[in-house]
Amino acid sequence: MSVLEGSVKTGKVYVETYGCQMNEYDSGIVTSLMQGAQFETVSNPEDSDVIFLNTCAIRENAHAKIYGRLQSLGYLKKRNPSLVIGVLGCMAQNLGEDLFHQELPLDLVVGPDNYRTLPDLISRIRNGEKSVSLTRLSKIETYDEIEPRVVNGVQAFVTIMRGCNNFCTFCVVPYTRGRERSRDPLSIVRETRDLVSQGIKQLTLLGQNVNSYSHEGTDFAGLTRMLLEETEIERIRFTSPHPKDFPLHLLELMAENPRFCPNIHLPLQSGNTKVLSDMKRSYSREEFLEVAKRIRSYVPDVGLTTDIIVGFPGETEEEYEDTLETVRSVGFDMAFMFKYSEREGTVAQRRLPDDVPEEVKSERLTKLVDLQTAISLERNRARIGKTFPILVEGLSKKSVEEACGRTPCGRMTVFPIPKEGEASSWIGRTVPVEILSATSATLRGRILA
Ligand code: SAH
Ligand code: SF4
Ligand code: F3S
Repeated sequence: MSVLEGSVKTGKVYVETYGCQMNEYDSGIVTSLMQGAQFETVSNPEDSDVIFLNTCAIRENAHAKIYGRLQSLGYLKKRNPSLVIGVLGCMAQNLGEDLFHQELPLDLVVGPDNYRTLPDLISRIRNGEKSVSLTRLSKIETYDEIEPRVVNGVQAFVTIMRGCNNFCTFCVVPYTRGRERSRDPLSIVRETRDLVSQGIKQLTLLGQNVNSYSHEGTDFAGLTRMLLEETEIERIRFTSPHPKDFPLHLLELMAENPRFCPNIHLPLQSGNTKVLSDMKRSYSREEFLEVAKRIRSYVPDVGLTTDIIVGFPGETEEEYEDTLETVRSVGFDMAFMFKYSEREGTVAQRRLPDDVPEEVKSERLTKLVDLQTAISLERNRARIGKTFPILVEGLSKKSVEEACGRTPCGRMTVFPIPKEGEASSWIGRTVPVEILSATSATLRGRILA
């Protein structure tokens, strides 16, 4: 909560965030813009006069969640008819004005490139206008000079590029986020320095395809090198690179600089070359395996994670088996796994019938999740007995006597902290932790004296 001294408040705004880390970052932008327009931020919708849901559109269940949430907010609108409820983000961009035709308690629909107009749009609603929407995509908007409000702790996200030009056939993002554009590296350096001065130790650089970051001759490795050289940020992570163009000099930088965490999220999507081609992913199964091998040869202790879709249109049992085989062969540390969900406007929706039955998708997903869980467990067990420098990110959810943080390779680790003094004083320190046990999701260890 922030109170600007001496100024009159225009209202209280509550922001709820769904979807990916880019939305988290954007919610910080929205909060910052609203604070600039003299809105106070509150952490409870009941206390607010403006509610924003910053939404996702990636799969149908992301939409379903928002319909449910809007309905559940209806009672607040009944109690306070001047309450403004707005849908922001990718679902807003995707459905636009159609959202107003569903009898939801909703006043405002604003897409990801139009947040600067939010204070004005709210004034228009307060002046009696109904159902206000703005979903114009921009070729240039990057919110470069807006400092997002930092939410918590020692970790922050920084969006380095917006939009996507890849048009993978299943994916709605190019339609909700528009064309790819990279931020000026100098503004990213400035933002990082500010974050460091606010106590941030770890930065995650965000983009839909960070390998195609490009600003007047600076590529992604160049940007990362700049941040390492020109700021005092302790750790840098990033997500996601596209497997089709993984640059060698990025791996060299990772191998030589311990502040650049050996942690790569490399979305596979499918392990079958025909399916990959139908998805327009621009790499074959063999090429993906080659990239994974190259990554491991440069950065042997890398943590490799991925995204996988099962039940893409036309996926046969044999093609699905190729995905299982690829997952076995790469040995990812963790994977986000999804059933294909047809999205309005995508190439797959227009050209490829969603013909894998729901039960088959579910079976394929369950079997894949079981396989990946076993692999994650095996890979985590191999870390028992090793010691990692861990940045303490927070106290464990279950006990304040335990802290948690990630290994450089990205595995979440929980460990007891000495009882003397304030438990929270450990947050932000980097401590050597010896791993003692492992589950598929978490490591447990002890701080070495
Ligand atoms: N830009 C990132 C992906 C962002 S979306 C990249 O290319 O790596 C995150 C993940 O959601 C994708 O990697 C994909 O696995 C999944 N996803 C995207 N569209 C989907 C759809 N229509 N159905 C199911 N999963 C989908
Ligand atoms: Fe979607 Fe593909 Fe762009 Fe990722 S690279 S956001 S999956 S279109
Ligand atoms: Fe992110 Fe969902 Fe949009 S994954 S980019 S919030 S569609």
